[in-house]
Amino acid sequence: MGEMESGAATLTRLTSRADFESYRSTAEARWNELWDGPRTVVSVGVGSSSIAKGALEVVAACHREFSGRSDVVVRQIAVDGADWMVVQVQVKHPGRPLVFYGSVLPEDIPTIVSGGLESKAIGVDADLPFGTIPPLSAHPFYKHQHRIVMRDIGVIDPDSIEEAVARGAYSAYLKVLFEMAPEDVIAEVTASGLRGRGGAGFPAGIKWESGRKARARPKFIVCNSHEGEPNVYKDRRIHEGDPHRILEGLLIAGVTVGAERAYNYIGGEYPLAIQRFRKAVADAEQLGLIGKNVLGSGKDVAFRVRTGGGAYICGEGSALMYSVMGVRGQPRTKPPRSVEEGIWKRPTVANNTETVANIREIVLNGGDWYANIGTEKNSGTKMMTVQGPLKTVGLVEVPMGITLRTLIEEVWGGMRDGFTFKGIQTGGVSAGPLKDEHLDLPVDFDSLTDVGGMLGSGGFVVFDTTVCSVDFARYLTAFNRVESCSKCVPCARGNPALVEIIDRIRFGRGSLSDLVLMERTSKHVIELSLCGLGQVAPMPLLGMMKMYPEEFRSHIVDGVCPTGDCPIGKGGVAIAAGD
Ligand SMILES: Cc1cc2nc3c(=O)[nH]c(=O)nc-3n(C[C@H](O)[C@H](O)[C@H](O)COP(=O)(O)O)c2cc1C
Ligand code: SF4
Repeated sequence: MGEMESGAATLTRLTSRADFESYRSTAEARWNELWDGPRTVVSVGVGSSSIAKGALEVVAACHREFSGRSDVVVRQIAVDGADWMVVQVQVKHPGRPLVFYGSVLPEDIPTIVSGGLESKAIGVDADLPFGTIPPLSAHPFYKHQHRIVMRDIGVIDPDSIEEAVARGAYSAYLKVLFEMAPEDVIAEVTASGLRGRGGAGFPAGIKWESGRKARARPKFIVCNSHEGEPNVYKDRRIHEGDPHRILEGLLIAGVTVGAERAYNYIGGEYPLAIQRFRKAVADAEQLGLIGKNVLGSGKDVAFRVRTGGGAYICGEGSALMYSVMGVRGQPRTKPPRSVEEGIWKRPTVANNTETVANIREIVLNGGDWYANIGTEKNSGTKMMTVQGPLKTVGLVEVPMGITLRTLIEEVWGGMRDGFTFKGIQTGGVSAGPLKDEHLDLPVDFDSLTDVGGMLGSGGFVVFDTTVCSVDFARYLTAFNRVESCSKCVPCARGNPALVEIIDRIRFGRGSLSDLVLMERTSKHVIELSLCGLGQVAPMPLLGMMKMYPEEFRSHIVDGVCPTGDCPIGKGGVAIAAGD
């Protein structure tokens, strides 16, 4: 697909460190030649969000336009997070800076590549404007970003191991194989302060240390790439944009912990992510980066990819491990912790994709370097995703501690014309909404919880004044009801009961005592459920009731839905349940 094609057949097995270094210098030379050479380079962002907007048709138009032209290279890259400007096309003419074009249609290609259609030019990859095109780094969407994990997403061809290596992939792995003792690696990860990006924020260094110390064998590493939560799409995008970064982090984890095998468990709903990641593993295996006696280091690492079947609960650590083993994914009570008894009852270190994807830079630059980014207790950067009526929706990577206001009003461009901000749903389906008065809080694992919010895995939904809080609470509670695995009664029975009560209110049949009933039922579900799903499932509902009590009362006392979103309607005409 790309210029620096890495078709599996062309890869030769490397058997020593010197072999790898020679491969890397060739890759770097070819990368530099691509950008500094005499040809025009046209790169199209192809990913799950842009394919839906016609990216493959744009690629086809490029091939039609430039077939047989040796002076133009057509490449596929991933979407760089800027979903608001898909289909994105980057054009680099010899001797000129790289220009980013947005909302490109197949018929735009000839004009864009010949230098026209400046109205679609979003920015230029340079410090100064190029003609009338401003620097991309000055655009609010990019200005606040600090890209570590996303450094090469939308830059490299994700199917090319050669491009990844040219940009530094596997350099940290080499360092870990040949220069560092496992204790040194753990010391750097610990010093970095990296906290797990799967939602709970548990320190990665402590987990790795426990995994290293575990005595039973074999040991396993598993990457949690399930990401079944609505509104969260960061891990999928790392797979689509830079799969080798994930793989390198996992190989490093395997060598450091002393694991016999590493797994990546990917949500089955993400075919492109799975396809690109599998290609990365196949290429790395062929190159000799996975297997026995890797590059003559004396270290062995085996690797497997597993895919889920679509159940959200399979993202919960213990359920995920059952699913990896091929049995039904349901949580179990803890202890024992998975680092003592995980996959096949053997010590297993589980980390989220984004956690693992930070490892390369931590190893290369040192833990202190990472600890200096973000805030004291929340170091580094965080990938965040958003949905809602905002001008520049997309995936971003920002330093921990950025405020919600900067994110909403600058990075994501503020509300689209005709929409008025009402709130922001935080923590995916595991927390409550926040309002305008909370927007100056820093976004990190600790600061939002006091007011009922949560960073979680970094998925936000901004909603406007046409959205009913009762209706939205129903959606979020119903998600948890559907995804409950039914193993324990409080969650299996409590969540349907909550949805039933909310429905009563939405249909105009609620009473004030229902408010108390919902609080009491929520308390039971939270306190008595077996796993994290049930323990937080009622939080969105409780949050909506706390932030918008007047709306719940309007439905019950006045018999109207102020926004008209609910079946009861603005005029208070109740519709029979089930209609
Ligand atoms: C219902 C439920 C779903 C979860 N889904 C995910 C998920 O999709 N990805 C993830 O990394 N962690 C998920 N988690 C958190 C994991 O149990 C675990 O804490 C995490 O994978 C550990 O990795 P980390 O320390 O790197 O964050 C989920 C937890 C629960 C309770
Ligand atoms: S809390 Fe819900 S999802 Fe978790 S084990 Fe119980 S029934 Fe299953």
